[in-house]
Amino acid sequence: MLTDEIKTQLIQAASEARQWAYAPYSNYPVGAALLTASGRVYDGVNVESAAFPTTMCAERVAIYKAVSEGERNFVTLAVVTANGGSPCGSCRQVLAEFGLDTLVIIADAEGKIVREMTVGELVPVAFMPEDLRNVSS
Ligand code: THU
Repeated sequence: MLTDEIKTQLIQAASEARQWAYAPYSNYPVGAALLTASGRVYDGVNVESAAFPTTMCAERVAIYKAVSEGERNFVTLAVVTANGGSPCGSCRQVLAEFGLDTLVIIADAEGKIVREMTVGELVPVAFMPEDLRNVSS
C-alpha cells in the first residue's frame, strides 16, 4: 500500500538527492527517488556535461542505478525540481520499458505535489517491448 507517509518519504529522498545535481549549465537541479517492489529506494540527480547532449536526467540515473542492481519492478518515482517540471520524453520512454503502472509523483522545491500520474498516463500509446515481438518482415 502506497501511503501518504511513503509518498512524503520519497519526495524527501528526491529533495535531499537534488543537492548533488551537477547542473552548472542549466542551473536546473533535479532530484529523483525510485521505490522498487523490494522496498529499496534508488535516488538520482541530473548530471550535465559541457558536451550538452551527453547530459543525463535524474530520473534515468535513478532507474539505471536500480536496474544495475537487479531491480526491474518499480512502484513509484518521485521527481523534485524548483517548479514541479515534468519528466522529459526520454525518461518517460525508459520508465515505460519497465511498466505502465509505475506511479510518478512530481513535486516542487517545497515538497508540494504538483502532479501525480501513472507512466501509462504520461506515455499514452507507448512503444513497448511487445512491439518488437511477433513481427513479420
Ligand atoms: N532534466 C532532468 O533531470 N529530468 C527531466 O526529466 C527533465 C530535464 C534535467 C536535464 C538538464 O540537466 C536540466 O534538467 C535542464 O534540462
